[in-house]
Parts: sequence; structure tokens; C-alpha cells
Amino acid sequence: MNSSNICVLGIESSCDDTAAAVIQNGRILSNVIATQKIHEEYGGVVPELASRAHQQNIVPVVHQALVKANIDKKQLSAIAFTRGPGLMGSLLVGTSFAKSLAMGLNIPLIEVNHMQAHILAHFIDEPEQEKPEFPFLAMTISGGHTQIVLVKDYFEMEVIGQTLDDAVGEAFDKSAKILGLPYPGGPVLDKLAQEGDPLAFPFPKPQVGPLDFSFSGLKTAVLYFVQKKTQEDPNFVENNLNDICASIQYTIVEYLMDKLKKAVKTTGINRIAIGGGVSANSGIRRALELASKDLGWKTYVPKFEFCTDNAAMIAMVGQLKLERGLISDTSVTAKARFSL
Ligand code: KG4
Ligand code: ZN
Repeated sequence: MNSSNICVLGIESSCDDTAAAVIQNGRILSNVIATQKIHEEYGGVVPELASRAHQQNIVPVVHQALVKANIDKKQLSAIAFTRGPGLMGSLLVGTSFAKSLAMGLNIPLIEVNHMQAHILAHFIDEPEQEKPEFPFLAMTISGGHTQIVLVKDYFEMEVIGQTLDDAVGEAFDKSAKILGLPYPGGPVLDKLAQEGDPLAFPFPKPQVGPLDFSFSGLKTAVLYFVQKKTQEDPNFVENNLNDICASIQYTIVEYLMDKLKKAVKTTGINRIAIGGGVSANSGIRRALELASKDLGWKTYVPKFEFCTDNAAMIAMVGQLKLERGLISDTSVTAKARFSL
């Protein structure tokens, strides 16, 4: 396949974002996303509502991605889509749409693992984005995932640590909910934390395997702490909001950094690429900058729009797979649990 002519449409529908993007020779021509607002009133993603919203959004989102890229669908070389992991009902919408479109246009269909895509988003051609050299460590931190992956090559990856329960984004969101903050609480908590004292209130760091994570205990610790303090002073949360947020954020960031330091020590690799919505967190960004300065790590953080769930990363993997002849059969089905 002549890579100069490759033009891939990527489709993402694994959770609550319906997204489509077009990539041409590694450059993103369009990256369209419809974020489903409906879940805000429920304080979390409602799977049934998510798949219904995907059905409503998918045609206009794909159409917009083609229009913005100024590409006619007949110019597409392949259709890449998220096969999993994710919510089954949501994945089914993207999978069925991608299969039909690829069959209709008679072009290759390419399945993409969402977790692999978060990592390979680092290879999108962007003027100010440096691509990590292999091997490197990738930490994917979002509302759905928390993993440390040893990346030996584009398609040679090994999960060396992961959460045993909640994802780190959930720890932010659930803590924020306990404090009465709106969903998704991560960015709000981050903002409030910047005005607070990170050492005001100590929270425990869960003890699990050296490179694994556990966040459900933190959420419970925050809940008990707030209940106890509110009994003593009904205005406790209101009067100490910044300090509580700063202390929670400090605990989470320290925990993530502890694990990364262990991963660097175990593997001897100090190139660290991060992805997922929590990469936006000011605390983790600062901690990574410090580690670059003090420990000599080389850290990579993609543009925010390529960190959160998006279809550009799906299109990127589509291109890499097409170049390698890694095409899927049209009988492929969605896979809610899909390991790397
Ligand atoms: O990658 P993403 O958009 O979607 C998935 O969950 O896959 O990540 C969303 C998560 C939410 O939990 C949100 O609260 C969190 O990322 N998040 C943050 C920040 N920005 C987004 N958490 C902490 N600090 C932030 N600045
Ligand atoms: Zn994701």
C-alpha cells in the first residue's frame, strides 16, 4: 500500500462520546466529537441512554468529519472503528455503522483496541508533538481506565499494572460528587485544588501489587471523612472545600507517581507517555514536569483533544494497521472486554 495515498476514517463509540475523524498520511484532517450531555443529570454514564445517543449522533458526526476534512467518502482507503473495550450497547452502534460503510464502499474494515489507540495517539503528526521512541512506558488515566503499559513496538504492548477496581477518573468524579460538585467532577476538583493546601488532610494510599492500583478505598475514605467532619460542623465542606480538594488531588497524584517510579525502576525505561482525560490534571502535569527535571525522565503528553476519548486516535491506529495489512474480517463483532 502506498502510504502517500492513505486516508482513513476513524469511528469511536465505546462510552459516551460519539466521534469521527479523518487522517491522511498521519495528519488529522478533522476530529469531530459529540459529547453526550444527557448523563450529567444522572451523575454518571447511563449505558442505555449512551447507545441511544450514539444512534442519533453517528450519521451527523461522520458526515461532519468528512465535510471538515474536505474528503468525499469515495476517497477513503479504509474504515477504522473501536471494537472494544467499552459499553456493549455503545460499541455495537459504531461497529455496525463501520461495517456497513466499509461494505458499502467496498474498502477494508479495521478493528481498533481503544486502549491501544490511547497509546498510539502519541504518533499523530502534530507540529509541537514529539513522538516517543520505543520502548517506552504508557500510563493511560481516564474515567474508564488506569493502566501502565510497556510499549515495545506499535503492536507489541504488555500491561504491567492496572486498577483492580475503579479508574482514577472515577476516583476524582466520585470524590467530587461526595463534595457536592457537578459531574464530571475531575476538572472542577482540579480547579478548586489549586487554591488549597495539599497537606491539610491526609488520605490513605491503598496497598496493592507494586504496579497495580486501587481507588475504591479512597472514595470510601473521603465519604467517611466528610460524614464525620460534617457531624462536628455542618459547614465543614463549604469552609474547607479548597483544602479538601487539594488533599484528595495530592493523594491521587502521589499515588500515580509512586507507581510510575516503580515502573521506571522495574523496567529501566524512563520515557513516559501519558493519555486519557486525567492527563489534563494540573497536579499530574506538574509532577511529571518535576520528574523530568529532577529524575531525568522524558515525558510525553499529547494535545488534550487527543488525550480524551476521540476518533483521531482510532484513525491513527487504522492507518498504522492498514500500512501493515492488518485488516479485519467483515464478520468481526464488538467486544466489551478486550485486552491489549
Ligand atoms: O478520557 P476521558 O474523556 O473519558 C473516559 O473516561 O474514557 O476522561 C474523562 C475523565 C473524567 O473522569 C474526568 O473527571 C477526568 O477525565 N478529568 C480530570 C480532569 N479533566 C478530566 N480529572 C482530574 N483533573 C482534570 N483536570
Ligand atoms: Zn478512553
